[in-house]
Amino acid sequence: MNTDTAIRKQVLTRQDLFFIVDAFYKEVRKDEVLGPMFNATIHDWEQHLEKITDFWSNQIFDTRVYKGHPMEAHVEFDKKMHYSITPTHFGTWLFYWLNTINTYYEGANAELLKERARKMQTVLYLKIFEHRPQKSHNKLDEPS
Ligand code: HEM
Repeated sequence: MNTDTAIRKQVLTRQDLFFIVDAFYKEVRKDEVLGPMFNATIHDWEQHLEKITDFWSNQIFDTRVYKGHPMEAHVEFDKKMHYSITPTHFGTWLFYWLNTINTYYEGANAELLKERARKMQTVLYLKIFEHRPQKSHNKLDEPS
């Protein structure tokens, strides 16, 4: 069957962003590695989905609805996870993000959502790494 003929939408509204964020987290929460990490940290999922939708709304529609601090949030999260976040976690995260967008959407804003996430993951990971205590610096993806 040729799935290329599926009709994909443009990302035009906040509802589109919410749809993507919601579908993305449904997959992430099922992932055997990422799922338990998110489920242990986020208790109010409704609020989280709105917050992440706000975040992407700032990015794509240039609204000022998101007022959080993603760097600090991830540094804290890594600490809570005993400094165990690796580039592989970010790779898996990005896989679900790209897949979700590609399944339902196309066009300029869809491309922008993918591109921004690709760029951000490097910055976020470096920030996490930079904030680790010295002795935790060896926790990369090398086999132990
Ligand atoms: C490019 C990749 C990513 C982006 C753009 C991103 C974006 C965000 C944003 C905007 C927040 C909300 C921060 C706030 O204002 O409280 C957040 C929270 C969070 N992120 Fe990410 N994230 C990324 C990757 C990841 C990865 C790989 C993980 C897990 C390994 C992760 C785990 C979390 C968790 C658990 C929270 C909730 C923190 C809390 O509420 O205590 N994120 N993320």
